Amino acid sequence: MKSSFSFSISLKLLFSPYLFAFLAFVIFLSIFHMEDLSYVSSLHDPDPNTLNHTIAYNEKKRQNKLVFAVGDGVRGCDLFSGRWVHDYGWPLYEENECPYIIPQLTCLEHGRPDNDYQHWKWQPNGCSLTSFNATLMLETLRGKRLLFVGDSLNRGQFISMICLLHRVIPQHAKSLEATFDSLSLFTAKDYNATIGFYWAPYLLESNADNPIFHKASGSIVRNGSIDTHGQHWIGADIIVFNTYLWWMTDIKILEGSFDEVKDIVAVPRDYAYRMAMNNLVKWINKNVDYEKTRVFFMTASPTHKSSKSWGGDPNGNCYNETGMNKKVTPWGPGNSIMQIITEEFNKSIVPITVLNITQISNYRKDAHTSIYKAQWRNLTSKQLANPTSYADCIHWCLPGVQDTWNQLLFSKLFYP
Ligand SMILES: *[C@@H]1O[C@H](CO)[C@@H](O)[C@H](O)[C@H]1NC(C)=O
Ligand SMILES: *[C@@H]1O[C@H](CO)[C@@H](O)[C@H](O)[C@H]1NC(C)=O
Ligand SMILES: *[C@@H]1O[C@H](CO)[C@@H](O)[C@H](O)[C@H]1NC(C)=O
Ligand SMILES: *[C@@H]1O[C@H](CO)[C@@H](O)[C@H](O)[C@H]1NC(C)=O
Ligand SMILES: *[C@@H]1O[C@H](CO)[C@@H](O)[C@H](O)[C@H]1NC(C)=O
Ligand SMILES: *[C@@H]1O[C@H](CO)[C@@H](O)[C@H](O)[C@H]1NC(C)=O
Ligand SMILES: *[C@@H]1O[C@H](CO)[C@@H](O)[C@H](O)[C@H]1NC(C)=O
Ligand SMILES: *[C@@H]1O[C@H](CO)[C@@H](O)[C@H](O)[C@H]1NC(C)=O
Repeated sequence: MKSSFSFSISLKLLFSPYLFAFLAFVIFLSIFHMEDLSYVSSLHDPDPNTLNHTIAYNEKKRQNKLVFAVGDGVRGCDLFSGRWVHDYGWPLYEENECPYIIPQLTCLEHGRPDNDYQHWKWQPNGCSLTSFNATLMLETLRGKRLLFVGDSLNRGQFISMICLLHRVIPQHAKSLEATFDSLSLFTAKDYNATIGFYWAPYLLESNADNPIFHKASGSIVRNGSIDTHGQHWIGADIIVFNTYLWWMTDIKILEGSFDEVKDIVAVPRDYAYRMAMNNLVKWINKNVDYEKTRVFFMTASPTHKSSKSWGGDPNGNCYNETGMNKKVTPWGPGNSIMQIITEEFNKSIVPITVLNITQISNYRKDAHTSIYKAQWRNLTSKQLANPTSYADCIHWCLPGVQDTWNQLLFSKLFYP
């Protein structure tokens, strides 16, 4: 399985245009890296009586210390309610100092005129957020594997994590490579630690699994197929999942396999998302030993595609935006996606720590890459005349909000 990709090849892979998938630039090539589909084992539900017993037993047990915890979080403090405060202690690293940031996220390099978006710190209402300590993080990862699994937003968080850590690792003792197409791996040799990113935008097997050739519309997802990707996640010590935006399109569910299609049915979005969360919880409970492993789930990363929502220009979007979105609409209990996450994760025996970054990030209409990123094909004159038309209001500049996501991850890892 191990192949010796050079650093430049892996960079090429990282530069891959998956970030543009949403812009529908990509010609879809139906190339799939299908693992042996016969591998996929059936997901069976445990006996309900045993489950009841186990839940009660584990409920008691998991209230004790979670693995990697070094202390308690501030009781009653919701880290996810608060505000952004201006702080010149941020960013925690400079854009041009971290060589791992992909060109789609280097905003200053691509001409962004202001850098105010970098100087904000998240301030919870009830307490202060623990500072990110790169040494503690690396020491904890000694002989261990941290794995991010999901889509390009999670890839941004993966890169942020490397940027937060790389300064304390000597030049000769670190590398970033692609072990195979779906997996990018950063290694801190002296620590025997790896930080990985695994591309699986739906977590389940889908026709968008090729990390380079895919598009977000016309997606087909196979029910019960989480082991196809999940086999590569087994053994990770800390796993950080995300999946959201890719479900916000027309989804079809495949029964059978991609080789032998039995049925393909269009389903409502929430129905499909619940299926994924259900599959994820089953995978976690079958494959994760929570005495050794911590599991995190990042909630939706919000987009800022219409400035109407914050009372701006009706035709505008995140382009040319500075400052906070002061009209954040809560993704409260009424939001069906949040509801599904809460309900499905509640069935898990293994604790899944939800990092509720949606609201936090929703304030940050200023922090998207907008037009300040590498374009992978030349813009048309029509586009150039109207920057709003090609602004990316999904992804975030680095340094940026992903660093705060990682600070929250750090906080919940060590002070749950
Ligand atoms: C779980 O076990 C308890 C105690 O034996 C019982 O009261 C409860 O009804 C059970 N719940 C389920 C969902 O089976
Ligand atoms: C960071 O963590 C290391 C290792 O646990 C510790 O020695 C150091 O004091 C910490 N630094 C800060 C600023 O807390
Ligand atoms: C390095 O870490 C892996 C786990 O990620 C472990 O299996 C292996 O034994 C470690 N190697 C050394 C030399 O410590
Ligand atoms: C997915 O598969 C499971 C197990 O076979 C089944 O119970 C469930 O109804 C299926 N969900 C969908 C959305 O097809
Ligand atoms: C950007 O916004 C400022 C006001 O904040 C405005 O004066 C300027 O014309 C805008 N620039 C473009 C290119 O839209
Ligand atoms: C996430 O945070 C928002 C805003 O604080 C809240 O309304 C929502 O219920 C939270 N969702 C989850 C799953 O914790
Ligand atoms: C979680 O499940 C338990 C038992 O089924 C239920 O009592 C509780 O209300 C659920 N909590 C949420 C937040 O759904
Ligand atoms: C893109 O623009 C550059 C410079 O204007 C030009 O040299 C190049 O040929 C163009 N590429 C394509 C694919 O049109």
